[in-house]
Amino acid sequence: MIGIICALPEELKEIREGMEPDGELEFSGIRYYMGKLYGKDVVCAVCGVGKVFAAICTQTMILKFHPGMILNVGVAGSLSDGLSVTDIVIARQLVQHDMDVTALGEPLGKILGSDIQYIPTDEEIRDRLFSAIMELNAENAFGGKEVKALQGTVVSGDQFISSKGKKQLLVEIFKALACEMEGAAVAQVCYVNKVPFCVLRSISDSADSGAGLDYPAFVALASANSAKVIHRFLQES
Ligand code: ADE
Repeated sequence: MIGIICALPEELKEIREGMEPDGELEFSGIRYYMGKLYGKDVVCAVCGVGKVFAAICTQTMILKFHPGMILNVGVAGSLSDGLSVTDIVIARQLVQHDMDVTALGEPLGKILGSDIQYIPTDEEIRDRLFSAIMELNAENAFGGKEVKALQGTVVSGDQFISSKGKKQLLVEIFKALACEMEGAAVAQVCYVNKVPFCVLRSISDSADSGAGLDYPAFVALASANSAKVIHRFLQES
């Protein structure tokens, strides 16, 4: 069973297309759609925005469906000049940029009383997602545009990043490629439950003063690119 978690309905829409449905269950207000895609058992859900919803959804998915891997998929703001709208980032590691006990001498993102700061994603899943993107590019399957794919640090927090100053800070502190609002929470829950996971996001905006306008304009296109990668990944799993 492969678990797929998106924050928003737009992000899940095209992933669910073509899925052979096999029931739905609801827990804590989140619906879990079971079914088959390319013959593989899949459970997917729209968790809602932010780390708390993401954590509720991930823990519930693990306890109720026992997935062998979890993918967190959707869109992100770019923190890198190398990533434009509709390009893709695959997280190598995730960290919560708003977990702040620096006053107690810990680095930003470190969870006091644990060994958790940067949480690494599963290398094999990462490599397979990257290969799927390279194949789709070779087939010109992203609507005529070559999609750039970078692997690196993704930061998550309960903030929509939309200023140059905050963006610069995240780059300086974490050397991050992209920001979003759920990935590090999914990562933490998967980490403590020892479930392999990865986070794949397509860029919807540049996390600066234009983000408020770019996000609604590009969320569908970026989500479609992420969905294409997940379809290819599942086809080849
Ligand atoms: N998801 C997409 N764009 C984002 C941004 N700029 N900040 C946080 N999450 C995002």
